[in-house]
Amino acid sequence: MSSQGLSFEVFGPDVRQDTAIGAEIKLPSDMPILDLERLTAQDKDVLRQALFENQVIVIRGQKGVDPTVLPELAKIFDDSAIGIHSAGEKAVSDPRNILSAYKAGRIPKAPQVGIIGSGKFQNYEGIPELEVIHLDHTLFHETPLEKEELDSGFTRPYRWHMDTPFYERLPGEVTVLHSIQIPKIPDQKIKFPDGEKEIGAGATAFFSGARAFDLLTPEEQEFALNTTVTYAPQAYEYIRQCKSSEDGLTIPTLGREVPVDQVSEWQWDKVAEHPMVWKNPLNPSRPFLQVHGCCVYKLTTRNPQTGEETVIDDVEEVRKIVYNMQKKIYAAKHIYAHRWIEGDLVIFHNRGVMHSITGQLEQHDAKDKQRLLWQCTMTSGEPPKPFRDYPGVNATGFVRAQA
Ligand SMILES: [Fe+2]
Repeated sequence: MSSQGLSFEVFGPDVRQDTAIGAEIKLPSDMPILDLERLTAQDKDVLRQALFENQVIVIRGQKGVDPTVLPELAKIFDDSAIGIHSAGEKAVSDPRNILSAYKAGRIPKAPQVGIIGSGKFQNYEGIPELEVIHLDHTLFHETPLEKEELDSGFTRPYRWHMDTPFYERLPGEVTVLHSIQIPKIPDQKIKFPDGEKEIGAGATAFFSGARAFDLLTPEEQEFALNTTVTYAPQAYEYIRQCKSSEDGLTIPTLGREVPVDQVSEWQWDKVAEHPMVWKNPLNPSRPFLQVHGCCVYKLTTRNPQTGEETVIDDVEEVRKIVYNMQKKIYAAKHIYAHRWIEGDLVIFHNRGVMHSITGQLEQHDAKDKQRLLWQCTMTSGEPPKPFRDYPGVNATGFVRAQA
Protein backbone atom coordinates (compact mmCIF):
# COMPACT_ATOMS: atom_id res chain seq x y z
CA MET A 1 0.00 0.00 0.00
CA SER A 2 1.42 3.38 -0.90
CA SER A 3 1.77 5.91 1.90
CA GLN A 4 -0.58 8.86 2.25
CA GLY A 5 0.99 12.31 2.38
CA LEU A 6 0.79 14.77 5.25
CA SER A 7 -2.68 16.21 5.84
CA PHE A 8 -4.56 18.22 8.43
CA GLU A 9 -7.95 18.45 10.02
CA VAL A 10 -9.34 21.64 11.53
CA PHE A 11 -10.38 21.22 15.20
CA GLY A 12 -14.04 20.35 15.75
CA PRO A 13 -16.52 23.18 16.46
CA ASP A 14 -16.75 22.32 20.19
CA VAL A 15 -13.04 23.01 20.63
CA ARG A 16 -12.66 25.67 18.00
CA GLN A 17 -15.71 27.71 19.09
CA ASP A 18 -15.20 31.26 17.78
CA THR A 19 -11.40 31.30 18.09
CA ALA A 20 -10.46 30.84 14.40
CA ILE A 21 -7.64 28.69 15.82
CA GLY A 22 -6.49 25.11 15.63
CA ALA A 23 -5.82 22.13 13.40
CA GLU A 24 -4.35 18.68 13.90
CA ILE A 25 -1.66 17.45 11.54
CA LYS A 26 -1.68 13.86 10.34
CA LEU A 27 1.83 12.78 9.40
CA PRO A 28 2.31 10.55 6.35
CA SER A 29 0.97 7.09 7.22
CA ASP A 30 4.41 5.44 7.37
CA MET A 31 5.97 8.19 9.56
CA PRO A 32 5.05 7.88 13.25
CA ILE A 33 7.69 10.41 14.35
CA LEU A 34 8.32 13.53 12.31
CA ASP A 35 11.22 13.02 9.89
CA LEU A 36 11.83 16.25 8.00
CA GLU A 37 14.11 14.65 5.45
CA ARG A 38 11.29 12.46 4.26
CA LEU A 39 8.70 15.22 3.93
CA THR A 40 7.97 16.11 0.32
CA ALA A 41 7.68 19.69 -0.95
CA GLN A 42 3.93 19.15 -1.03
CA ASP A 43 3.87 17.92 2.59
CA LYS A 44 5.65 21.15 3.59
CA ASP A 45 3.14 23.24 1.64
CA VAL A 46 0.31 21.51 3.50
CA LEU A 47 2.05 22.25 6.83
CA ARG A 48 2.39 25.94 5.93
CA GLN A 49 -1.23 26.09 4.81
CA ALA A 50 -2.43 24.42 8.03
CA LEU A 51 -0.45 26.86 10.18
CA PHE A 52 -1.05 30.15 8.39
CA GLU A 53 -4.80 29.41 8.11
CA ASN A 54 -5.28 28.11 11.66
CA GLN A 55 -2.44 29.77 13.63
CA VAL A 56 -1.92 26.82 16.02
CA ILE A 57 -1.31 23.26 14.83
CA VAL A 58 -0.57 20.09 16.76
CA ILE A 59 1.14 16.82 15.87
CA ARG A 60 0.27 14.21 18.51
CA GLY A 61 2.44 11.38 19.79
CA GLN A 62 5.90 12.81 19.07
CA LYS A 63 7.74 11.45 22.12
CA GLY A 64 11.25 10.60 20.99
CA VAL A 65 11.64 13.40 18.44
CA ASP A 66 15.18 14.77 18.54
CA PRO A 67 15.58 18.36 19.86
CA THR A 68 17.60 19.30 16.76
CA VAL A 69 14.46 18.71 14.67
CA LEU A 70 12.67 21.70 16.25
CA PRO A 71 14.78 24.49 14.70
CA GLU A 72 14.65 22.75 11.32
CA LEU A 73 10.88 22.44 11.60
CA ALA A 74 10.60 26.16 12.43
CA LYS A 75 12.53 27.00 9.25
CA ILE A 76 9.80 25.39 7.11
CA PHE A 77 7.66 28.41 8.05
CA ASP A 78 10.42 31.02 7.83
CA ASP A 79 13.41 30.33 5.64
CA SER A 80 14.98 33.62 6.78
CA ALA A 81 15.10 32.43 10.41
CA ILE A 82 18.49 32.98 11.96
CA GLY A 83 19.51 29.92 13.94
CA ILE A 84 19.52 31.57 17.34
CA HIS A 85 16.77 31.65 19.96
CA SER A 86 15.06 35.05 19.89
CA ALA A 87 15.84 35.49 23.60
CA GLY A 88 19.55 35.34 22.69
CA GLU A 89 22.23 32.67 22.43
CA LYS A 90 21.87 31.82 26.10
CA ALA A 91 18.82 31.73 28.37
CA VAL A 92 18.00 35.09 30.00
CA SER A 93 19.72 35.09 33.40
CA ASP A 94 20.13 38.83 34.05
CA PRO A 95 17.97 39.48 37.15
CA ARG A 96 17.17 42.97 35.78
CA ASN A 97 15.14 41.24 33.05
CA ILE A 98 11.72 39.95 34.13
CA LEU A 99 12.11 36.99 31.74
CA SER A 100 14.91 35.56 33.91
CA ALA A 101 12.23 34.51 36.44
CA TYR A 102 11.36 31.42 34.38
CA LYS A 103 14.90 30.07 34.95
CA ALA A 104 14.55 28.60 31.45
CA GLY A 105 17.39 26.27 30.46
CA ARG A 106 18.71 25.35 27.03
CA ILE A 107 19.31 21.94 25.51
CA PRO A 108 23.11 21.69 25.05
CA LYS A 109 22.93 19.90 21.68
CA ALA A 110 20.26 22.31 20.35
CA PRO A 111 20.85 25.76 21.89
CA GLN A 112 17.87 27.20 19.98
CA VAL A 113 15.65 24.98 22.13
CA GLY A 114 14.74 26.27 25.57
CA ILE A 115 13.41 24.14 28.41
CA ILE A 116 10.47 25.54 30.35
CA GLY A 117 8.12 24.06 32.92
CA SER A 118 7.99 23.48 36.64
CA GLY A 119 10.17 21.47 39.00
CA LYS A 120 13.63 20.02 39.45
CA PHE A 121 15.14 17.50 37.08
CA GLN A 122 18.43 15.59 37.19
CA ASN A 123 20.60 14.61 34.24
CA TYR A 124 18.13 15.86 31.72
CA GLU A 125 19.43 16.14 28.12
CA GLY A 126 22.98 16.50 29.40
CA ILE A 127 22.08 19.02 32.13
CA PRO A 128 23.12 17.68 35.55
CA GLU A 129 20.74 19.85 37.64
CA LEU A 130 17.82 21.68 36.05
CA GLU A 131 15.23 23.75 37.88
CA VAL A 132 12.46 25.48 35.94
CA ILE A 133 9.79 27.79 37.34
CA HIS A 134 6.15 27.98 36.31
CA LEU A 135 5.07 31.60 36.56
CA ASP A 136 1.46 32.14 37.52
CA HIS A 137 -0.77 35.20 37.57
CA THR A 138 -0.36 35.80 41.33
CA LEU A 139 3.17 37.04 40.57
CA PHE A 140 2.11 39.63 38.00
CA HIS A 141 -1.51 40.68 38.44
CA GLU A 142 -2.39 43.80 40.40
CA THR A 143 -5.32 42.02 42.10
CA PRO A 144 -4.79 38.24 41.97
CA LEU A 145 -7.53 35.71 42.68
CA GLU A 146 -8.39 35.22 46.35
CA LYS A 147 -7.34 32.05 48.16
CA GLU A 148 -10.90 30.74 48.06
CA GLU A 149 -11.02 31.05 44.25
CA LEU A 150 -7.58 29.45 43.91
CA ASP A 151 -8.72 26.58 46.15
CA SER A 152 -11.73 25.98 43.93
CA GLY A 153 -9.53 25.62 40.88
CA PHE A 154 -9.57 29.04 39.22
CA THR A 155 -6.60 30.47 37.35
CA ARG A 156 -5.92 33.32 34.93
CA PRO A 157 -3.72 33.99 31.92
CA TYR A 158 -0.39 35.24 33.27
CA ARG A 159 0.60 37.71 30.53
CA TRP A 160 -0.41 37.83 26.85
CA HIS A 161 2.59 38.20 24.57
CA MET A 162 4.38 37.30 21.40
CA ASP A 163 7.75 35.57 21.74
CA THR A 164 10.19 38.42 21.16
CA PRO A 165 12.42 40.59 23.35
CA PHE A 166 11.41 43.85 21.53
CA TYR A 167 15.07 44.75 21.41
CA GLU A 168 17.81 43.93 18.92
CA ARG A 169 16.20 40.71 17.64
CA LEU A 170 13.08 40.32 15.51
CA PRO A 171 10.16 38.08 16.50
CA GLY A 172 10.18 34.59 15.04
CA GLU A 173 7.44 33.69 12.59
CA VAL A 174 6.64 30.58 14.64
CA THR A 175 7.32 29.01 18.01
CA VAL A 176 7.54 25.24 18.35
CA LEU A 177 6.60 23.64 21.68
CA HIS A 178 7.00 19.98 22.60
CA SER A 179 5.44 18.51 25.70
CA ILE A 180 7.64 16.04 27.58
CA GLN A 181 5.83 15.89 30.91
CA ILE A 182 2.50 17.36 32.01
CA PRO A 183 1.30 18.03 35.56
CA LYS A 184 -0.95 15.44 37.20
CA ILE A 185 -3.41 18.01 38.45
CA PRO A 186 -7.19 18.25 37.91
CA ASP A 187 -8.58 20.67 35.33
CA GLN A 188 -8.71 24.35 36.27
CA LYS A 189 -11.08 27.16 35.24
CA ILE A 190 -10.85 30.71 33.94
CA LYS A 191 -13.62 33.26 34.42
CA PHE A 192 -14.42 35.34 31.35
CA PRO A 193 -17.06 38.05 30.94
CA ASP A 194 -19.13 35.57 28.86
CA GLY A 195 -18.71 32.59 31.19
CA GLU A 196 -16.20 30.08 32.52
CA LYS A 197 -13.85 27.91 30.55
CA GLU A 198 -12.51 24.62 31.84
CA ILE A 199 -8.90 24.07 30.85
CA GLY A 200 -6.16 21.53 31.42
CA ALA A 201 -3.79 22.52 34.28
CA GLY A 202 -0.89 24.41 32.69
CA ALA A 203 -2.70 24.88 29.36
CA THR A 204 -1.17 27.40 26.94
CA ALA A 205 -3.81 29.94 25.93
CA PHE A 206 -4.01 31.64 22.54
CA PHE A 207 -6.10 34.23 20.76
CA SER A 208 -5.99 35.06 17.09
CA GLY A 209 -4.79 38.49 15.95
CA ALA A 210 -7.17 38.14 12.99
CA ARG A 211 -10.14 37.60 15.29
CA ALA A 212 -8.96 40.55 17.44
CA PHE A 213 -8.94 42.74 14.31
CA ASP A 214 -12.44 41.54 13.29
CA LEU A 215 -13.79 42.72 16.65
CA LEU A 216 -12.65 46.34 16.19
CA THR A 217 -15.06 49.05 15.04
CA PRO A 218 -14.43 50.39 11.50
CA GLU A 219 -12.86 53.53 13.07
CA GLU A 220 -10.55 51.46 15.24
CA GLN A 221 -9.58 49.29 12.27
CA GLU A 222 -8.67 52.38 10.27
CA PHE A 223 -6.64 53.77 13.19
CA ALA A 224 -4.86 50.44 13.66
CA LEU A 225 -4.00 50.13 9.97
CA ASN A 226 -2.38 53.58 10.01
CA THR A 227 -0.44 53.12 13.25
CA THR A 228 3.00 51.82 14.18
CA VAL A 229 3.85 50.80 17.74
CA THR A 230 7.13 51.65 19.40
CA TYR A 231 7.96 49.34 22.30
CA ALA A 232 9.64 50.47 25.51
CA PRO A 233 13.45 50.47 25.49
CA GLN A 234 14.47 47.18 27.17
CA ALA A 235 10.73 46.58 27.55
CA TYR A 236 10.95 43.64 29.96
CA GLU A 237 13.24 45.56 32.31
CA TYR A 238 11.06 48.65 31.99
CA ILE A 239 7.95 46.73 33.22
CA ARG A 240 9.64 44.37 35.65
CA GLN A 241 8.05 45.95 38.74
CA CYS A 242 4.69 46.61 37.08
CA LYS A 243 1.47 44.72 37.73
CA SER A 244 -1.18 43.80 35.17
CA SER A 245 -4.95 43.86 34.80
CA GLU A 246 -6.98 40.74 35.66
CA ASP A 247 -6.98 39.56 32.04
CA GLY A 248 -3.17 39.86 31.69
CA LEU A 249 -3.53 42.20 28.70
CA THR A 250 -2.35 45.56 30.03
CA ILE A 251 -0.74 47.47 32.87
CA PRO A 252 -3.55 49.61 34.28
CA THR A 253 -1.53 52.01 36.42
CA LEU A 254 1.54 54.05 35.73
CA GLY A 255 4.26 54.58 38.30
CA ARG A 256 6.29 51.42 38.84
CA GLU A 257 8.20 51.55 35.53
CA VAL A 258 11.99 51.46 35.74
CA PRO A 259 13.12 54.77 34.23
CA VAL A 260 14.63 54.21 30.78
CA ASP A 261 17.94 55.74 31.92
CA GLN A 262 18.19 53.04 34.58
CA VAL A 263 17.66 49.94 32.39
CA SER A 264 20.52 48.11 30.63
CA GLU A 265 22.37 50.11 28.02
CA TRP A 266 20.28 50.64 24.90
CA GLN A 267 20.07 52.66 21.72
CA TRP A 268 17.00 53.73 19.75
CA ASP A 269 17.88 51.91 16.53
CA LYS A 270 17.68 48.56 18.36
CA VAL A 271 14.31 49.28 20.00
CA ALA A 272 11.45 47.40 18.33
CA GLU A 273 8.92 49.32 16.27
CA HIS A 274 6.24 47.34 14.47
CA PRO A 275 3.04 47.99 12.55
CA MET A 276 -0.07 47.53 14.66
CA VAL A 277 -1.58 45.29 11.97
CA TRP A 278 0.51 42.56 10.35
CA LYS A 279 0.27 40.77 7.03
CA ASN A 280 -0.10 36.98 6.96
CA PRO A 281 2.56 35.36 4.73
CA LEU A 282 0.04 33.09 3.02
CA ASN A 283 -3.15 35.11 3.16
CA PRO A 284 -2.34 38.76 2.43
CA SER A 285 -5.98 39.82 2.61
CA ARG A 286 -6.39 38.86 6.29
CA PRO A 287 -5.24 41.56 8.75
CA PHE A 288 -3.78 40.55 12.15
CA LEU A 289 -3.83 42.94 15.11
CA GLN A 290 -0.50 42.10 16.77
CA VAL A 291 0.43 44.29 19.71
CA HIS A 292 1.86 43.54 23.14
CA GLY A 293 -0.28 45.66 25.46
CA CYS A 294 2.10 45.54 28.46
CA CYS A 295 5.27 46.58 26.60
CA VAL A 296 3.93 49.43 24.44
CA TYR A 297 5.54 52.88 24.69
CA LYS A 298 4.51 55.12 21.80
CA LEU A 299 2.06 55.17 18.88
CA THR A 300 2.65 56.94 15.58
CA THR A 301 -0.43 57.32 13.37
CA ARG A 302 -0.26 58.54 9.84
CA ASN A 303 -3.18 60.20 8.07
CA PRO A 304 -3.34 58.36 4.72
CA GLN A 305 -4.77 61.42 2.92
CA THR A 306 -2.36 64.09 4.11
CA GLY A 307 0.61 62.01 5.28
CA GLU A 308 0.55 63.95 8.52
CA GLU A 309 1.78 62.03 11.57
CA THR A 310 0.31 62.13 15.06
CA VAL A 311 2.42 60.82 17.92
CA ILE A 312 1.03 59.64 21.25
CA ASP A 313 3.91 59.20 23.68
CA ASP A 314 2.09 59.33 27.00
CA VAL A 315 2.58 55.69 28.05
CA GLU A 316 -0.58 55.60 30.14
CA GLU A 317 -2.62 56.86 27.18
CA VAL A 318 -0.89 54.46 24.78
CA ARG A 319 -1.73 51.50 27.02
CA LYS A 320 -5.36 52.64 27.32
CA ILE A 321 -5.82 52.93 23.56
CA VAL A 322 -4.32 49.51 22.90
CA TYR A 323 -6.26 47.91 25.75
CA ASN A 324 -9.61 49.29 24.60
CA MET A 325 -8.99 47.66 21.25
CA GLN A 326 -7.63 44.35 22.48
CA LYS A 327 -9.88 43.65 25.47
CA LYS A 328 -12.81 42.71 23.23
CA ILE A 329 -11.10 39.39 22.49
CA TYR A 330 -11.15 38.41 26.15
CA ALA A 331 -14.09 35.99 26.03
CA ALA A 332 -14.30 32.21 26.53
CA LYS A 333 -15.44 31.71 22.93
CA HIS A 334 -12.40 33.57 21.52
CA ILE A 335 -9.67 31.92 23.58
CA TYR A 336 -8.19 28.55 22.67
CA ALA A 337 -6.42 26.88 25.61
CA HIS A 338 -4.24 24.01 24.44
CA ARG A 339 -4.79 21.01 26.68
CA TRP A 340 -1.37 19.36 26.66
CA ILE A 341 -0.93 15.65 26.09
CA GLU A 342 2.59 14.28 26.57
CA GLY A 343 4.28 13.97 23.20
CA ASP A 344 2.40 16.90 21.59
CA LEU A 345 4.39 18.95 19.12
CA VAL A 346 2.63 22.29 18.82
CA ILE A 347 3.60 24.92 16.27
CA PHE A 348 2.05 28.33 16.70
CA HIS A 349 2.13 31.36 14.44
CA ASN A 350 3.93 33.79 16.75
CA ARG A 351 3.10 36.62 14.34
CA GLY A 352 -0.57 35.68 14.16
CA VAL A 353 -1.57 35.02 17.77
CA MET A 354 -0.98 36.29 21.26
CA HIS A 355 -0.38 33.59 23.84
CA SER A 356 -0.15 33.19 27.60
CA ILE A 357 0.79 30.74 30.30
CA THR A 358 -2.11 29.72 32.53
CA GLY A 359 -2.41 27.50 35.60
CA GLN A 360 -1.83 27.44 39.34
CA LEU A 361 0.64 24.66 40.05
CA GLU A 362 2.37 26.10 43.11
CA GLN A 363 0.05 24.69 45.79
CA HIS A 364 0.36 21.10 44.50
CA ASP A 365 2.82 18.34 45.47
CA ALA A 366 6.27 18.61 43.91
CA LYS A 367 5.74 15.27 42.16
CA ASP A 368 2.35 16.20 40.70
CA LYS A 369 3.33 19.62 39.39
CA GLN A 370 6.36 18.47 37.41
CA ARG A 371 6.07 19.93 33.92
CA LEU A 372 8.55 19.96 31.08
CA LEU A 373 8.27 21.54 27.65
CA TRP A 374 10.75 22.30 24.90
CA GLN A 375 10.38 25.69 23.27
CA CYS A 376 12.04 26.82 20.06
CA THR A 377 11.55 30.33 18.74
CA MET A 378 14.20 31.82 16.49
CA THR A 379 14.93 35.36 15.48
CA SER A 380 13.66 36.02 11.98
CA GLY A 381 15.74 37.70 9.29
CA GLU A 382 12.64 39.58 8.12
CA PRO A 383 10.62 42.15 10.09
CA PRO A 384 6.82 41.77 10.32
CA LYS A 385 5.15 43.30 7.26
CA PRO A 386 2.59 46.06 7.69
CA PHE A 387 -0.85 45.06 6.44
CA ARG A 388 -1.25 48.50 4.87
CA ASP A 389 2.00 49.31 3.17
CA TYR A 390 2.00 53.06 2.50
CA PRO A 391 4.89 55.32 1.52
CA GLY A 392 6.95 56.32 4.52
CA VAL A 393 5.80 53.48 6.79
CA ASN A 394 8.57 52.14 8.99
CA ALA A 395 8.76 48.42 8.22
CA THR A 396 12.33 47.84 9.39
CA GLY A 397 11.32 46.31 12.74
CA PHE A 398 13.25 48.94 14.70
CA VAL A 399 13.01 52.63 15.48
CA ARG A 400 14.63 54.60 12.67
CA ALA A 401 18.02 55.99 13.68
CA GLN A 402 17.58 59.59 14.77
CA ALA A 403 18.99 62.03 12.22
FE1 LIG B 1 5.86 32.69 25.07
